[in-house]
Amino acid sequence: MDRNLALEAVRVTEEAAIASARLMGRGDKVAADQAAVDAMRKAFDMLAIRGTVVIGEGERDEAPMLFIGEKVGRGRPDDLEIDIALDPLEGTNPCANGLPNSIACVAFAEKGKFLHAPDTYMEKIAVGPDARGAIDLSGSTAQNLKRVAAAKKKKIEDLTVIILDRPRHEALISEVRRAGARIMLIGDGDVAAAIATCDPDTGVDVLMGIGGAPEGVLGAAALRCVGGDFQGRLKFRNDEEIERAKKMGMKDVNKVFSIEELAGGNVMFAATGVTDGALLRGVRFFGGGCKTDSIVMRSKSRTMRRIEATHNLNDGR
Ligand code: FBP
Repeated sequence: MDRNLALEAVRVTEEAAIASARLMGRGDKVAADQAAVDAMRKAFDMLAIRGTVVIGEGERDEAPMLFIGEKVGRGRPDDLEIDIALDPLEGTNPCANGLPNSIACVAFAEKGKFLHAPDTYMEKIAVGPDARGAIDLSGSTAQNLKRVAAAKKKKIEDLTVIILDRPRHEALISEVRRAGARIMLIGDGDVAAAIATCDPDTGVDVLMGIGGAPEGVLGAAALRCVGGDFQGRLKFRNDEEIERAKKMGMKDVNKVFSIEELAGGNVMFAATGVTDGALLRGVRFFGGGCKTDSIVMRSKSRTMRRIEATHNLNDGR
């Protein structure tokens, strides 16, 4: 994949972030999401790719734009053919309520390299590069924390586990406490939380718990780019979802997916902050423009770039 494509990807997340940030705190998550989708869809037209959305806004019948299977990009015969995982507004609630941790993100991979994850939940564990190889979703919480602490040469008591604040995580939270580790509970946004495990400045060591399956693929794509580690196992809400996954070609519905199975080959990832978070600052508006804060990374080089951009919004945007 052309390395310049990574920089192009940022344009797409910047547009989605600016559009949704305008609706921050307005209490309407559907409108904020729609604004991000519209802006991202439009920005894709400028990219010299033949892209297929494999992780998107949902199935074709439920999402009019950026649906799974939709073709995006300029689409000339000699444009690069890629698969795309995207979430124009990851963290619709925090954006609608003016809370931290919502981002716009996309990931690109060579054809067939993203898991075609159904729209269900996924049990996840993620760590940064210094604990790569130390995680195993089939093992207990205590075993994982012990191994991560050893890999990071830290006491378990000094580890911070980031977990979505949900009633379903009651047992997990008790297990982490029993093991002696610290916990950071977040309201939303487990893609940003997965990436936070790779940045020592965030103080986060491990992501654990159940979140969205599409967000699992995006988190894995991001961590592939920085050499982190990620495992995921689908968690279905009902038999209908299991049947759907089987129809999508999933043979073992209890399988633990490795990071390469979730996002293999050459991967690129870009994200722009919508609201402030540990990783990225949110969009800041000023008269006639705004500033955005983004990261863009590539698995091939393991480069992570931060891009702070000033946008002129006098052009009708
Ligand atoms: P949305 O942007 O779709 O609202 O997702 C936010 C999020 O917090 C994800 O980061 C996470 O994977 C998922 O929701 C968890 O789902 P639920 O809110 O149903 O527990």
